[in-house]
Amino acid sequence: MRVLGIESSAHTLGIGIVENGRVLSNEKMMYQIGTAGLIPAKAADLHAENVHAVLREALSKAGLTLGEIEGIGYTMGPGIGPCLRVGELAAKTLAERYGLPMAPVNHALGHIEVARFAAGFRDPLVLYVSGGNSQILAIEGKPFRHYRVLGETFDIGIGNMLDSFAREAKLNPAWGSSVAKLAEGGSYIELPYTVKGMDFTFTGLLTAAGDKLAVHRHKDVAFSLQETSFAMLCEATERALLLTRKKELLLSGGVAQSKRLNEMLRLMAAQHRTRVYTAENQYNADNGAMIALVAEKMLENGMDARPEKCTTNQKYRIDSVRIGWR
Ligand code: FE2
Repeated sequence: MRVLGIESSAHTLGIGIVENGRVLSNEKMMYQIGTAGLIPAKAADLHAENVHAVLREALSKAGLTLGEIEGIGYTMGPGIGPCLRVGELAAKTLAERYGLPMAPVNHALGHIEVARFAAGFRDPLVLYVSGGNSQILAIEGKPFRHYRVLGETFDIGIGNMLDSFAREAKLNPAWGSSVAKLAEGGSYIELPYTVKGMDFTFTGLLTAAGDKLAVHRHKDVAFSLQETSFAMLCEATERALLLTRKKELLLSGGVAQSKRLNEMLRLMAAQHRTRVYTAENQYNADNGAMIALVAEKMLENGMDARPEKCTTNQKYRIDSVRIGWR
């Protein structure tokens, strides 16, 4: 099946095309956040302005015309309302025009499943770390087959925490990757560490790190912020590994691009003889191909939705999605 997927949940407008699980194209355009942070209306405007150009690029890279597409997927949520609605509207328009079945896709499921397919993992423990979310998950069979959230952040996602710190430290670009660069050669200073079982919180840590900027070298604060938050994730993930006895660990989401988090997690997993797979960076970043891949699975398994029933949900939880495929 040839399926086109549209991702527009936050700063990235991505359109990808897959055919029988193979990615034919994965094009994108990104809203530049800058020091002001993401302004939803501006990001949505930019998505709307560029949707035609990105669509053309995706079709051209895949060597296909719209008439050859057999299904449409789009990100239903979670995400930013005005941004999500641009993708929904584009998907509905194409579906109506070409009489195509539609699949509303959960964004987190896109990141995780694209990595799980690539890894060839059947039943991994998942650490999903992105801007808006941070969760530890595993597939559970009851009452329906879905990803159960074993642990998660009680406040903000680790990506947003790192981005907020980057803005406070006046880094440009104000991204977690700038924090990683600043942290090179830093020394450790103590910061609050909050893990409760397999859950964690980041806002106290962010506030404390912000306060330390006035009295410590910025590189020491950045280093300590990374070490502390990543150690929290490793502790919670290790607890989940011991609980579930899984031997496969999947790391995905925007923050999975962090070299240091990979190092720390792999060190922990090696002690439990657990295989680790980190998704490719093009799939850790927001992209349309992951939405197309999950949409293809949904459509093949009768999980399509009529255009008039398709909507967006800013707080769409992954644990409410049935996984009707392996
Ligand atoms: Fe994402």
